[in-house]
Amino acid sequence: MNKNEIIIQTVNHVKQTLANAEGGHDWWHIHRVWKTAQHIAAAEQADELVVALGALLHDIADSKFHNGDETIGPRVAREWLHSLKVEEPVIEHVENIITHISFKGGNHHQPFKSKELDIVQDADRLDAIGAIGIARAFSYGGFKNRLLYDPAVPANLKMTKEEYKSNSAPTINHFYEKLLLLKDRMNTSTGRKLAMQRHEFMENYLKQFYGEWDGAL
Ligand code: ADP
Ligand code: NI
Repeated sequence: MNKNEIIIQTVNHVKQTLANAEGGHDWWHIHRVWKTAQHIAAAEQADELVVALGALLHDIADSKFHNGDETIGPRVAREWLHSLKVEEPVIEHVENIITHISFKGGNHHQPFKSKELDIVQDADRLDAIGAIGIARAFSYGGFKNRLLYDPAVPANLKMTKEEYKSNSAPTINHFYEKLLLLKDRMNTSTGRKLAMQRHEFMENYLKQFYGEWDGAL
C-alpha cells in the first residue's frame, strides 16, 4: 500500500470510529488538526506520513473513556497500522506521538522528542484557541451545564482540578486556566505565529464579552 492509500484508509477508519464521539474530539477536530499539521509541516523538515498518521490517530481512543488507561490510544493505533502493514519505525513513531502529545511541559523531563510530535502537538493546541477554541470551550461548558461567566468568581482565579470537576468553574475561567497560556507553549515558528493571531483574537473577544456583560458595548 502506498502512503496515499494508507492515509485514505486511515481517514475512513477514523471517521467511522469517531462517528459517535462527543463534540470536542469528533472527526472535525481530527480534520482540523490534520490540516493545520500539514500547514505547519510545509515549513519544516518532517516525515509527512508520520505527521498525517499522528494527527489522524491522536484521539483514536481517549483514556478518559477507558478508565484512565493511557496505553489504549497508542495500542489501538498500532493495531490499526499493523493491519495496513505499515513499517515498524513509522508505527513506533506514531505511538510515541499519541503517548506524548498531552505532555504538559514544566519541570518534567520530556521522555520523547521529535519534529513530528512538535508539529502535531502545535496543531492540537491551536485547535483549543482562537474562534474554534472559544466554540469548543463553550460547547464543553454547556455539556457540563456550566455558567458562561459569574461576575462573583474572579475569572483568573486558580481552581483545583477537583473544583473544576465539581462543575463550580464558569467557562470563562478555562481561558485563564489554559487557553491564554497556550501561545507560550508552541514548538514551531509557524505554530507560534498562528497562536499569536488566535491569542489576540481571544483577548479581543474577552474585552468584547465583558463590555457586553456590563451593557457597555
Ligand atoms: P485535549 O484532549 O485536546 O488536550 P481536552 O480533552 O481537555 O483537551 O479538551 C477538549 C476541548 O474541551 C478543548 O477545546 C478544551 O479547551 C475544552 N475544555 C476542556 N476542559 C474545559 C473546561 N473546564 N471548560 C471549558 N472547556 C474545556
Ligand atoms: Ni486532540
